[in-house]
Amino acid sequence: MAKAGKRKLIAGLDIGSSAVRMAVGQIMVRDEEGGEPELQILGAAEAPSEGVNKGAISSIEDVVSAISACYEKTERIVGVPIDSVWLGVSGLHIIAQSSKGVVAVSKADNEIGEEDVTRSLEAARAISTPLNYEVLHVLPKVFGVDGQTGIKDPVGMTGVRLEVDAQIILGASAQIKNLTKAVYRSGLEIEDLVLSILATAEAALTPRQKDLGVLVVDLGGCTTSLAVFEEGDIVHTAILPIGSEHITNDIAIGLRTSIDIAERVKIQYGDCWSEPVSKRDEIDLSELGASEHELVKRKYLSEIIEARAEEILFKIDQELRKVQRNGLLPAGVVFTGAGAKLPGLVDLAKKNLRLPATLGYPLNIASVTDKINDLGFVGAVGLVKWGAMMGGRTHTVQDRWQFIGIVKSWINKLLP
Ligand SMILES: Nc1ncnc2c1ncn2[C@@H]1O[C@H](COP(=O)(O)OP(=O)(O)OP(=O)(O)O)[C@@H](O)[C@H]1O
Ligand SMILES: [Mg+2]
Repeated sequence: MAKAGKRKLIAGLDIGSSAVRMAVGQIMVRDEEGGEPELQILGAAEAPSEGVNKGAISSIEDVVSAISACYEKTERIVGVPIDSVWLGVSGLHIIAQSSKGVVAVSKADNEIGEEDVTRSLEAARAISTPLNYEVLHVLPKVFGVDGQTGIKDPVGMTGVRLEVDAQIILGASAQIKNLTKAVYRSGLEIEDLVLSILATAEAALTPRQKDLGVLVVDLGGCTTSLAVFEEGDIVHTAILPIGSEHITNDIAIGLRTSIDIAERVKIQYGDCWSEPVSKRDEIDLSELGASEHELVKRKYLSEIIEARAEEILFKIDQELRKVQRNGLLPAGVVFTGAGAKLPGLVDLAKKNLRLPATLGYPLNIASVTDKINDLGFVGAVGLVKWGAMMGGRTHTVQDRWQFIGIVKSWINKLLP
């Protein structure tokens, strides 16, 4: 991590299929003892993504140049060299599994210590990992001590046998290796790997929402990632192979125009909720770069978008059904990702998911850049927040164990 005087810079790198984004922040350490440290975002930048498809790398060289372009821009903004990043991992290769770890409490007086918790997580991690997969996270859900279940933090309790129910997040080794290789080749060190949607959740959700029950959705270009939380813990995660680029493709086909014009039409005139759109409104495609004058009905455009957005929402609802939370999350659904900028999405989601819905901007983070208000940057900002949390100052009890010896150990293995 770069250090400048009392400043400790933390950088997050989010490599998406549409854009590579980087955010840099610092923890403001107060002089007086016990003062709450504060996270501030100092700068953020993006560059068009090349060589990434659905979170998988299709050309390392292209990704290296996209990362380099992005981080040069960020360095220029921040004015301090960035040498390491918290790296977001996403893509269809990610899988989640439930696991259980059981250990005997080590101390003679049977008081459970942090090392017992760490050992229980290591035991949960030792499930038979599918061939060619790596463990990204071991997320403790709930602990049990001598048969008493439902314990959130067992440290300090007395018992003989400690159990943990955990969720294990795995990623395909080859994909992760390609991703880390691209980052190292662009001259950056990696602090650690983080499942992108977890970092997003860290930035966009409050602890209260996570307690009540909430769904966070990152609507990207080629993928839609989601995570469900309840009682503060992660209940379900999924990455779906559908995103806002599918909407662009539908527009190109429906309006018989090029992808570039379809993308412009979507961004300037798109709306997911066709009902209130007037039948008389028309768009002249030549204003958006088409070679000929061609008028299209705005209503027709929003009907095309709505159909695909409904399909995306249906797939999200199916994921909620898998964990019996469809229509049942009191804190509703929070949308992030540049794809969520489409007007009308929140209203359509309220109707189709039968849940409260909002857009998720980073919370409780100071910023000197307005990128903090850009839904596309929530992932990158979340990675900075994650880095700050893992720096040991602002974490909650459970967060402490999410990384211990889990990822670092094999990152080194991947080094060229
Ligand atoms: N103002 C806007 N209105 C509507 N859609 C937008 C807007 N800006 C960007 N988008 C869409 O957002 C999508 C890209 O989202 P995002 O940048 O979050 O994806 P990504 O992180 O690069 O991809 P992924 O997460 O799938 O790997 C594109 O399809 C783009 O058309
Ligand atoms: Mg993304």
